[in-house]
Amino acid sequence: MVSETQKKELVKKALENRLKAYTPYSHHKVGAALLGKNGVVYDGCNIENAAYTPSNCAERTAFFKAVSEGQYEFEAIAIVGGMDDAKELDYCPPCGVCRQVMREFCRSDFEIYLAKDEDNIKTYKLVELLPEGFGPEFLED
Ligand code: THU
Repeated sequence: MVSETQKKELVKKALENRLKAYTPYSHHKVGAALLGKNGVVYDGCNIENAAYTPSNCAERTAFFKAVSEGQYEFEAIAIVGGMDDAKELDYCPPCGVCRQVMREFCRSDFEIYLAKDEDNIKTYKLVELLPEGFGPEFLED
């Protein structure tokens, strides 16, 4: 269970991570903070590329950092995003590709926090954002 305090801390971290986003093309900055079941928070931001397709979303940056460090189980992720010059942020939902990456490593009760700031947080379960998703169990005997 993620406490309300932990949830706010994750959002705070995501807001900090957003400031590191490398977005010279879209100018849309996204930050993520992914809580592993080991209690460690993995940071992520989006990283764009002049060739466009190699760009990586904030959520996947966080997941790939965690997995590459040997962590495969997760509790929750906080996501914040908006244009560079936005005066205030709106909720920024994860793209379909990132939802699919979550589906690979997370159970249906994995929590996704979309936030404008620490006091405006919407909480979803992965199954709500990706119902009837295709996952690793479909490839088991
Ligand atoms: N972006 C993310 O980082 N996460 C999402 O789930 C939505 C989109 C990034 C990708 C790109 O760098 C910019 O936002 C505009 O699409």
